[in-house]
Amino acid sequence: MAGRYDVVVIGAGAAGMMCAAVAGRRGKRVLLVDHATKLAEKIRISGGGRCNFTNINAGWQNFVSENPHFCRSALSRYTAQDFLTLVKKYRIAHHEKHRGQLFCDDSSEQIIRMLKDECDAGGVEWRMPCKVTGVEQTAEGFVVGLDTGPIAAANVVVATGGLSIPKIGATDLGYRIAKSFGLNMIEPRPGLVPLTFDGPSWQPFVPLAGIALEVEVETGSKKGKGAKYGHFREDLLFTHRGLSGPAILQISSYWQPGTPIVLNLLPELDVAEELIASKTSVKKQLGNILSQWLPARLAEGLLTANGFAPDARLPDMADAKLRKLGDAINRWSIVPTGSEGYKKAEVTLGGIDTRELSQQTMMANKVPGLYFIGETVDVTGWLGGYNFQWAWASGYVAGNSI
Ligand code: FDA
Repeated sequence: MAGRYDVVVIGAGAAGMMCAAVAGRRGKRVLLVDHATKLAEKIRISGGGRCNFTNINAGWQNFVSENPHFCRSALSRYTAQDFLTLVKKYRIAHHEKHRGQLFCDDSSEQIIRMLKDECDAGGVEWRMPCKVTGVEQTAEGFVVGLDTGPIAAANVVVATGGLSIPKIGATDLGYRIAKSFGLNMIEPRPGLVPLTFDGPSWQPFVPLAGIALEVEVETGSKKGKGAKYGHFREDLLFTHRGLSGPAILQISSYWQPGTPIVLNLLPELDVAEELIASKTSVKKQLGNILSQWLPARLAEGLLTANGFAPDARLPDMADAKLRKLGDAINRWSIVPTGSEGYKKAEVTLGGIDTRELSQQTMMANKVPGLYFIGETVDVTGWLGGYNFQWAWASGYVAGNSI
């Protein structure tokens, strides 16, 4: 067996490279292993090629987990400002786009190069592409099975990410390693993903693909132990198969199959009150009135779906009917059939149960020397740079404690 490493990090993505660089710079002998042929493909494609590398407002409230406070410790020990300091040190031009989201001006390749340089500065050794066959515990630490032969290590960090986008190399290796050591898992499922709808009630909305507007969306309940409730004000996009856009990606991480999401298509307007108040003064058709506030095709689709003729005249409508229409616009409750799945999901919800890990170090409580970081863990950020901040922070605290 080749010489023993202080740590083998499995997965050279965002969390794995950060962890390897930090441990290496502290003088540890580090081996970083990845099965991919191209380095950090998820960073490369992130943020439309410009990598939304952090969010300056990142706090524990921006994450979904069965154990919401778990991420606090790592996020406070390695903050968005800390990552920004590194970005500035490498003179990577960047800008704030929207609500604290920081992007590279030029290319996400700059973030990959920066992390690679940090690994080089820490003397990190690489095996890539290289298949990992398993991890076993020994009296001295661990043996990591590689297709090039077994490697001995005092510590192993699992940073293999989630299941999203299988075509660029996502696998369940991290989950399999956790299970083989008897660690509990929170069932993984796609997050930050478009939602799909079918059936006759969705038919009026099929032709609306391409329409976008700012909405409020909510799902879940605030009551009860472990209840999950999400609420966002963001853009909604109608697609050929359902709904997408930031509003839907965000709410998808809170949505439970079989339950509704509730949309307010006109958050600034009480539609029923407005229509009732206009009855005496406005003689227009319903379709024309709604098109003052909503895209005309959407107004027509909503009227058809709710049994109103677009050419019905406002003065002829009973108040009760107008209230029903107002509700359909201000409180549109719909049950998604499903989601676009891992093929389109930006992240994977669930993963290694955080109750199995130390929040200070990310080490498994019952397997000293075995760590899980980044997206393998049941900590999932909102859209907007939060997931990378979790990768950096969890990678940093693990790398710093080995
Ligand atoms: P990551 O997926 O980065 O790395 C895992 C590594 O493990 C990969 O290199 C993989 O090859 C390797 N691996 C997997 N299985 C293996 C095996 N069996 N053997 C060996 N190696 C294996 N987030 C954000 O904050 N801002 C953004 O702009 C975006 N944009 C974005 C766009 C798209 C299209 C996606 C899919 C995702 C995002 N994200 C994002 C999410 C973000 O990319 C993600 O949360 C982090 O990359 C997670 O970092 P990890 O290091 O945990 O996994």
